[in-house]
Amino acid sequence: MPFPIHRMRRLRTGLLREMTRENTLSISDLIYPFFVDENATKKIPVSSMPGVFRWPLSMAADAAKEAYDLKIPAVLIFGIPKNKDAAGTASYGDHDVVQEAVRRIKEKFGDKLLVITDLCMCEYTDHGHCGLVDMDTHEILNDRTLPILGKIAVSHAKAGADIVAPSGMMDGMIAAIREALDENGFKNTPIMSYSSKYASAFYGPFREAADSGFSFGDRSTYQMDPGNGNEAVRETQLDVLEGADILMVKPGMPYLDIVYRMKQEFQMPLAVYQVSGEYSMIMAAAKNGWLDEKRCFYESMLSMKRAGADLIITYYAKEIAEMLSDLSKK
Ligand code: PBG
Repeated sequence: MPFPIHRMRRLRTGLLREMTRENTLSISDLIYPFFVDENATKKIPVSSMPGVFRWPLSMAADAAKEAYDLKIPAVLIFGIPKNKDAAGTASYGDHDVVQEAVRRIKEKFGDKLLVITDLCMCEYTDHGHCGLVDMDTHEILNDRTLPILGKIAVSHAKAGADIVAPSGMMDGMIAAIREALDENGFKNTPIMSYSSKYASAFYGPFREAADSGFSFGDRSTYQMDPGNGNEAVRETQLDVLEGADILMVKPGMPYLDIVYRMKQEFQMPLAVYQVSGEYSMIMAAAKNGWLDEKRCFYESMLSMKRAGADLIITYYAKEIAEMLSDLSKK
């Protein structure tokens, strides 16, 4: 008879509960993403994401310092340029917004804080798509976009970026970026690929935060269909072959099966992106008094670790780091 020999509740209390916990969340798992806005002169609140701001370039190092002070090891930078055009030319200049932000942060923190750059064209193109577009047919020009992605990667690395994170879902982008980095003396710069990136409605608030809505169509010709799981294996396999160093699943909570599968299949460092909509959803419910904000964020991140994530990109990184550091002092 299993019962009363086996009593699962024996281990569920006090220190034993803690000692038998299978997965934990640590500050060193966290990546703090933030937006640097070339047009801003002060911090601009993002209304759909309470607690999130667009930072002016002059304060880029201050934004990074808030993460650094909490012992968060890495930040992920998104740029909002002053000028957008059809070819996204403000994405690769040595003195464009991301390059300047990286330089300022690296000057201040050196090796003590890793700077990851989101590498995509959508914030820089006036049509808002992640690649060049044939304006007559509205076709995304995949292959002509690749050299531009290479150029952006090199400009980020030159400015001091520690890791580049391509998020545009163009076919062949990892190979193109690897080649461009290697040819320009950055063979040791790792690539964190947004390898399984879904066409998700959970990116909604990001469009306001990063000013990256699109003028026609949607991203469904390059981002993955939410109904697909096997496709993520194939898509990720290609990124691995092309030279990705760190893989990613995005969004997080609705895609934990994908996180689990990617870890099982590839056993590579794996990041999960808790995206804007996941953040806003918990925040909105918490503001209504319907959910406990801190506990819900903690639980959602712990479940990402349980599914197989090594790293978690979250707008809530600072608050969770604070909570984890308080817990460790108890
Ligand atoms: C841009 C990019 C997006 C996000 C990260 N990089 C938007 C998109 O692909 O539509 C979304 C992040 C978020 O929602 O927090 N390529």
